[in-house]
Amino acid sequence: MKVAIILGTRPQIIKSAPVYEAFEGTGIECQIINTGQHYDYEMNREFFSELRLPEPAADLGVGQGTPNEQISGIIEGLGRTLGTSSPELAIVPGDTNSALAAGVACSKAGVRIAHLESGCRSGDLRMPEEVNRRLVDHMSQVLLCPTQPCMENLEAEHVLADVVANVGDTMYDSLLKFRDAIENVDIEGRYNASEGSYAFMTLHRAEAVDDPRTLGAVMKAVGSLETQVIFSVHPRTKARLAEFGIRTGSNLKLMGPLPYVDTLALVKGSQFVMTDSGGLQKEAFWLGKPTLITRDRTEWNEIVRAGASFIVGTTAEGISRGFKKIGHVDRRSFSKSKKIFGNGDASKKVVRAISKYLSSM
Ligand code: UD1
Repeated sequence: MKVAIILGTRPQIIKSAPVYEAFEGTGIECQIINTGQHYDYEMNREFFSELRLPEPAADLGVGQGTPNEQISGIIEGLGRTLGTSSPELAIVPGDTNSALAAGVACSKAGVRIAHLESGCRSGDLRMPEEVNRRLVDHMSQVLLCPTQPCMENLEAEHVLADVVANVGDTMYDSLLKFRDAIENVDIEGRYNASEGSYAFMTLHRAEAVDDPRTLGAVMKAVGSLETQVIFSVHPRTKARLAEFGIRTGSNLKLMGPLPYVDTLALVKGSQFVMTDSGGLQKEAFWLGKPTLITRDRTEWNEIVRAGASFIVGTTAEGISRGFKKIGHVDRRSFSKSKKIFGNGDASKKVVRAISKYLSSM
């Protein structure tokens, strides 16, 4: 039996790596198909080697383009690839344009789909990711949820899938696997960052960076915070900052896309995290760091409810109000809801659910 994991962006690689590993020795062949949505070496291929994934069986190299160009390029490429490699099932992680395109291509090629990280909802259709994740959920036969609230979201939408299971979050598996490596990064030597003296920040969502006023307001607010900010700049954000001529405050230290383990080491050493990334919100929670979410809504409300993160939006008032709350976060917020994302064995549960499903065919 053969399955294929279809991925193409940095967070999809992180979600998929432990699943690939969990297939080893099961008798089910697992192939990787790379769409190439993220095409810079440090956004894609570097993550393959760092997260110990093999060379992809196929690399579609879709590269730069508008979302429609990327999506149609992936659908076309996958149409050809799935015709020759014919897996019994494709695993599609997350909510990216690659995930949407993979869902469409598999559906048209008659390949069953298992959606990994299924059921997350922010309720905000302005986010391309929200549209993508909803559509992929409704195209899939196997829905693998990271949390119980995700299961409830799917139930409320009356999905038609054959299997809906709460397996836990495979990003948590990845983090646990690299726990020692994270611990061993010398952030002081490598990044001149001393423990607890800085905030770690990322920002890349279209809603936050594509509008000059919004991006300008966020940068101004961050520039006025009384703390050093290590800002890992996504290529999209770098391009927008240059295009809009926005200058960043002197308290910001800008760095290119960083490797996985180093990113988590910088999160772990930080005072707090500021981000619009879905994945980083969870990683900060697992590493015990309070987070300011620079969005209007999140799909990880469990963390907000636990009191460990705050939705601050993209305005100066929201960000400075959130900043004042950071020092008052109760440490118990991180432990009382620890198990909401599973026990670090999500990948094994994913493989078990898929094996069972395939053998029932
Ligand atoms: C995508 C995902 C988002 C995920 C994020 C992680 C969608 C809709 N969004 O957003 O869910 O959190 O990846 O990074 O799929 N670019 C480069 N080099 C690259 C990749 C992108 O320069 O390797 C630039 C390009 O100018 C591109 C822009 O960044 O147009 C945006 O890239 P894109 O892949 O469309 O979405 P992300 O913003 O990365």
